[in-house]
Amino acid sequence: MSQRIYIFDTTLRDGEQVPGSQLTTDEKIVVAKELERLGVDIIEAGFPISSPGDFQSVVAISKAVSEPVICALSRAKKEDIDAAGEALKYAKRGRIHTGIGSSDIHIRNKFNSTREQILEQAVAAVKHARSYVEDVEFYAEDAGRADLQFLAQLTEAVIAAGATVVNLPDTTGYCLPDEYGKKIKYIYENVSNVHQAIISIHCHNDLGLATANTLAGIQNGARQVEVTINGIGERAGNTSLEEVVMALKVHKELGFETGIDAKRLYPISQLVSEMMRMPVQANKAIVGRNAFAHSSGIHQDGFLKHAENYEIMTPQEVGVPKSSIVLTARSGRHALKHRLELLGYRYDKPTLDTLYKRFLDMADVRKEVNDKDLMELIR
Ligand code: KIV
Ligand code: ZN
Repeated sequence: MSQRIYIFDTTLRDGEQVPGSQLTTDEKIVVAKELERLGVDIIEAGFPISSPGDFQSVVAISKAVSEPVICALSRAKKEDIDAAGEALKYAKRGRIHTGIGSSDIHIRNKFNSTREQILEQAVAAVKHARSYVEDVEFYAEDAGRADLQFLAQLTEAVIAAGATVVNLPDTTGYCLPDEYGKKIKYIYENVSNVHQAIISIHCHNDLGLATANTLAGIQNGARQVEVTINGIGERAGNTSLEEVVMALKVHKELGFETGIDAKRLYPISQLVSEMMRMPVQANKAIVGRNAFAHSSGIHQDGFLKHAENYEIMTPQEVGVPKSSIVLTARSGRHALKHRLELLGYRYDKPTLDTLYKRFLDMADVRKEVNDKDLMELIR
């Protein structure tokens, strides 16, 4: 039987940190309700201490959404945790996500602190958060660059203090997949109480490795993944939800499943892109404009013979209406014939050869040949 991976969506928190992507409370409710329909397990709704608007959004989402756990972010500070606890008052199931830097770089240069003090502050934060909610997630910020032994010590201490989930983020997107996977494995092998909590992973995409690192984390024991729609987030972004979900779905042999309704991936990608003013790059995996578009003659011919030759999933599986054949100067006769037939025109071979020559001349000039152009060609 497959093992369940919990999907923690942080589009409305880490994703919303993208400059120019801020949403109003009403807009956040629209996105949160779509995330609920999509089937995410946890929605990180905001960072309540950061502004009155964010506080209000966490309150409003807690009231509007009932199925997923609603999570609020805080630093390991009493006033932050109090704000998060207050904001979650109306959540059916609320979670406080509290934490602090765990790498020596952060401990020294950000907190001017010591490992001992960080440990104490982390334990105190978890205990205080537990006075508000039973479900407390601790994040060891910059775990990707943290000393392994210290990370294990910190993980053990916060679980003993009551953390139900421990998040080991690659905050700066520094790790390589093998390295990150080994880090998670080390935690499983060296933290005595690790099975009392869920290990979560949260990767950033600074080296374009967020999805690969997330998959490595899962394969080494992590059971919660922190992701965003379209991979939006700080700097180069976070791990993209749709990529992880489909990687696990396409590779069933890995033995993992999620609660995501994949047919809703494309619609929610479009919604988030529009509302957060973040265009999706054309070649974005799963949801980009070209993800199911076939352009070269060799690919088009193979695709038309049997879609599986060039597609590892159907577009319908992820909510994209259909694959497309883009007619360019790289297209072959097979693609042209196919498109003409869709338009209702069938030709014998010599006529098709003549049309194909004219089509290539036109494609060299117009770059992409659409149905209107084809009608002109026929005339
Ligand atoms: O990247 C990060 O470390 C974070 C934490 C706040 C979880 O976003
Ligand atoms: Zn982050």
